[in-house]
Formats: sequence, structure tokens, C-alpha cells
Amino acid sequence: MPANIHLPTVSSFLKLLCAVLQISGFVQIRQHRVANHRWCMTGAFIVYCLFLISCLTYHAVVVSTGSRGHGWIRPVYCTILITHTVLAAAIVPMVVVTLLRGLRLAVEKHRPLARLVLPLWR
Ligand code: HEM
Repeated sequence: MPANIHLPTVSSFLKLLCAVLQISGFVQIRQHRVANHRWCMTGAFIVYCLFLISCLTYHAVVVSTGSRGHGWIRPVYCTILITHTVLAAAIVPMVVVTLLRGLRLAVEKHRPLARLVLPLWR
């Protein structure tokens, strides 16, 4: 990996771009602009994939981010870290299914799942 690429900065930028596309996609569908919604959400998904690649590459290269604290804060930190990791993995197939249902215009199945997934997709 080139030394001048700071992956946490890249990941943060991609996460921000993904959030902007998600919010834009939501605004578009509330205004019944289905084509704009499709482009925003498909774009958000592509950016999200790039974010995952950046994030996983960073964690593969930097095995540990250092101290997890001492005393009472350590179990608190570990609980947040473990639940975050499990939920971050669980959301991926849910986003894929939501996107595929949207692309197939299976609206009656897409809408209820999408309303659940969108607020969790971070
Ligand atoms: C992971 C990607 C996606 C997410 C998170 C998402 C999210 C949503 C949400 C939250 C709604 C409900 C809006 C409301 O409350 O009224 C919705 C509706 C809808 N979405 Fe998506 N969407 C995604 C991808 C797509 C794609 C690719 C299409 C393709 C055209 C699409 C088409 C639609 C349609 C047709 C509706 C129903 C609009 C209506 O109720 O009239 N979505 N989507």
C-alpha cells in the first residue's frame, strides 16, 4: 500500500458520500422520482462497496488499533465493538436484498424492507 494513502480518511470520505446519496435517494422517492431514486441508491451501494474494501483493507493491514482501555471502560468498549461488528456484517445481505428488490421493481416487497434497512444502513 502506498505510504501516502491514509485509509481511515478514504473510508470516512466514502461513508460521507454514501450517506449523502442515501439521503438524496430518500428525498427523491418521497417526491415520487423513481429513476433518480434508483440512481442515488445504486450509487450509494457502489460507494458502500468501496467503503467496505477500504475498511477491510485497513483492518487487514493494521491488525490492532491499540489499547482498548483499562478498568470498567474495557468491557463497555468491547461490548460496543462486538455488537458493531456483528451488525455491520448483518446489514450487508439486507442491503443487497433491498437493492435487488428495488431493481426488479418488486415494490410491495421492497418498500417494507427498505424502510427497515435505510435507517440501519450506516
Ligand atoms: C439499497 C437500496 C435502496 C434503498 C435503501 C431504498 C429505500 C427505499 C425506501 C426507504 C422506500 C420507501 C419510501 C417511503 O417511505 O415512501 C423505497 C421505495 C421505493 N423504492 Fe427504493 N431503495 C433502494 C433501491 C431502490 C432501487 C434500485 C429502485 C429501482 C427503481 C427502487 C425503487 C423504489 C420504488 C419504486 C419505491 C416505491 C415508491 C412508492 O411507494 O411509490 N429502490 N425505497
